[in-house]
Amino acid sequence: MAVVIIGGGQGGFQIAASLRAEGYQERITLIGDEPHIPYQRPPLSKGFLVGKQEQRHAELRPAAFYEAQRITLVTARATAIDRLARRITLDSGEHIEYDTLVLATGARNRLLPHDNVFYLRTLGEAAEIRQRLAAANDVVVIGGGFIGLEVAAAARILSKQVTVIEGQSRLMTRVVAPVVSEYFRSQHEAKGVDILLNATVQRISDNEVLLGERTRRPADLVIAGIGVAPNVELALEAGLPVGNGITVDEYLRTPDEHIFAIGDCAECPSLYFETCVRLESVQNAVDQAACIAKAIVGHPAPYGAVPWFWTDQYDIHLQMAGLPTGFDQVVTRGDPESRKFSVFYYRAGKLCAVDSINRPADHLAARKLIGAHATVSPDQAKDESFDLKTAVS
Ligand code: NAI
Repeated sequence: MAVVIIGGGQGGFQIAASLRAEGYQERITLIGDEPHIPYQRPPLSKGFLVGKQEQRHAELRPAAFYEAQRITLVTARATAIDRLARRITLDSGEHIEYDTLVLATGARNRLLPHDNVFYLRTLGEAAEIRQRLAAANDVVVIGGGFIGLEVAAAARILSKQVTVIEGQSRLMTRVVAPVVSEYFRSQHEAKGVDILLNATVQRISDNEVLLGERTRRPADLVIAGIGVAPNVELALEAGLPVGNGITVDEYLRTPDEHIFAIGDCAECPSLYFETCVRLESVQNAVDQAACIAKAIVGHPAPYGAVPWFWTDQYDIHLQMAGLPTGFDQVVTRGDPESRKFSVFYYRAGKLCAVDSINRPADHLAARKLIGAHATVSPDQAKDESFDLKTAVS
């Protein structure tokens, strides 16, 4: 018996660690194409950029862990999967055989058709941006999503002049309601960030970004966070089905019973949202990994964790539970002026997501509510004297 994991990110690491925690005794090989032991990405766009955290703080475990746990780390790219022979090929030409293969290939940054742009996903990219940020005065960030806004906050903390260029009419459109977008816009602007919405970059030179005839911004560093695309090519070439990610069932298994896929690269049926979802989050990677580890040691169960996410920008801690996709009603609990409030999202009268800004108790209650397929009415959600915990029996 042998498990081979392709992808040394959060999900890949977690399968290896969870397998050993579940008592799995056979060979585990973790293949990653970055020249580092597995690390977590969330600090890279936050504390790492401002010098509060170093590489060692981001490492998921010290190097000695892998030896002690008999997890073989291989630094290479997997280039092909031979499903009949149950064997993968590496770019070194080497082959590794598996009984179970887990694809945790993650996602890669979408790129702009311009030069002189830096992107942040890996430790190497973050280290380069950190170094350039120290020397920069005028920073232009393209993309007002998670990465863009976290980078903008870090650059302001370092007292840089910062412009954010967002293509849509509001910030973080993919994940939050207008009221939350507006709150984040006001907070960034209060910190001195220049935010341009509905804006498209036309040209980037050594020292400026051009948006139109009359709109230009000085820039000695341009960083883009314009979303990601899942790494599905290996699966496709191996003949596995791919939609908006590698298609897996509720057990996270592809139609090939020897191959699972998890994390940013995989699309699976959701217990909560009556559809298939591909989620880009630490929670999803970690919980899916634990689910697969259990299946490999003989205790399969459908994946059913409630999705949750977070972002930290300045002193604002936004926690998101559930998925707001398709929401048709939103109510706010608490006053945004107080800098502590939550937004409840409803779809066809049922609670589907809650965003909490500096209100961790609401976030925890929301995870329980959504996990229990329970709901609170919009009036109850609005009423701060209503105890959310009582709605989960
Ligand atoms: P994103 O999808 O969150 O945001 C991308 C933003 O760029 C969107 O607002 C989009 O409208 C905008 N955009 C796209 N094309 C553009 C263009 N040509 N010009 C201007 N704006 C454009 O993706 P992001 O921020 O790049 O994050 C990448 C990945 O990292 C995601 O998987 C995200 O979930 C993850 N991440 C998660 C964090 C968290 O959970 N706190 C923090 C940072 C990243």
